[in-house]
Amino acid sequence: MNILVTGGAGFIGSHTLVELYAAGHTAVVVDNLSNSNPESLLRVADIAGIGVIPFYQVDIRNRAALEKVFSIHHFDACIHFAGLKSVSESVEKPWEYYENNLSGTLVLLDVMRRHGCKNIIFSSSATVYGDPQEIPITEQCPKGQCTNPYGWTKSMLEQVLTDIQKSDPEWNVVLLRYFNPVGAHPSGRIGENPNGIPNNLMPYITQVAIGKRKELGVFGNDYPTPDGTGVRDYIHVVDLARGHVCALNAILRSCGMAIYNLGTGQGYSVLDMVKAFIAVNHVDVPYSIKPRRAGDIAACYSDPTKAQVELGWKAERGINEMVRDSWNWQRNNPDGYGNN
Ligand code: NAD
Ligand code: UD1
Repeated sequence: MNILVTGGAGFIGSHTLVELYAAGHTAVVVDNLSNSNPESLLRVADIAGIGVIPFYQVDIRNRAALEKVFSIHHFDACIHFAGLKSVSESVEKPWEYYENNLSGTLVLLDVMRRHGCKNIIFSSSATVYGDPQEIPITEQCPKGQCTNPYGWTKSMLEQVLTDIQKSDPEWNVVLLRYFNPVGAHPSGRIGENPNGIPNNLMPYITQVAIGKRKELGVFGNDYPTPDGTGVRDYIHVVDLARGHVCALNAILRSCGMAIYNLGTGQGYSVLDMVKAFIAVNHVDVPYSIKPRRAGDIAACYSDPTKAQVELGWKAERGINEMVRDSWNWQRNNPDGYGNN
């Protein structure tokens, strides 16, 4: 299939491109580079063993520019990663988040349908479950209250996509709810390139390990979890990327509307992650216990059975590969791709 990959220069997009090419698909990338560096695409082309990845530096809110891309290429489906994703920034700049993520997706969907491309895989998040009513979380678990505008953009866009598919059954819509993506390609050539101070656990750990930050703050050790620290379902980004390739098969089968959790089903605490990182990589990660972070929940992990049964997808990489590949990327690229 020929796939439009919006946000393809970013963390998950770049890893997904590698897996798309490995599976025999072709791709065209649209990205405004607001949170990425085109160097990632050069490295993806190298890893994939292809000359060059077709790339347009286009903002998906720019209808005319997007129309032009669709007039040049025929797309069988779109994998839609493009969006702003910082929880803390979304609290400070809600308008910018709603405008970028909602308007961008609305323009994209309109241009897609005008060109007869009605197949989309959307990057959603476990954040749509809010504070889950049951753990492990199945796709039947009701959506909850999001604690920040970023989360609401995901929840709202899920609704938009659901309603569009309901109104026009020619659409195939796959909502992929990611749990906590970590790790990097085992080559160490592509990985996560956070701007400024990382919000998320793993990039913070790697920056402490390389000496960019003094110590990790562990946000709370009084949760009702085995060691008192927050429990999450960390998933290796290569497994996550492969989940998108499997989701294309659902589209080929004309799935209509489909929702899948992409996680491992295994929860690890903050201290589990820190200890595994130290043990596997033989580097120190100084940490101290800090107060709980506002909006955090105690535990969140998936029941990934549905993706296994219907997509034939299962996460294969464990905690050791996650911490090894995260460190390998950080160590080989202390400043990521350089300036975004
Ligand atoms: P990322 O920031 O690395 O990638 C997103 C890409 O989208 C960037 O390259 C950015 O430049 C581009 N972009 C943003 N707005 C755009 C616009 N208006 N037009 C064109 N390009 C635009 O983020 P990521 O971690 O790769 O996440 C990819 C997707 O997955 C996002 O939608 C994110 O919300 C979602 N997601 C990520 C996580 C995570 O932990 N990384 C978890 C759940 C969901
Ligand atoms: C966060 C977002 C979520 C988003 C996801 C992936 C919040 C409330 N949720 O999820 O919307 O989809 O990232 O981008 O921000 N931790 C520390 N110290 C740190 C950083 C994190 O102890 O410096 C702890 C957190 O308290 C949590 C765990 O590590 O228990 C994971 O945190 P994080 O990586 O930010 O992911 P989530 O909070 O699960």
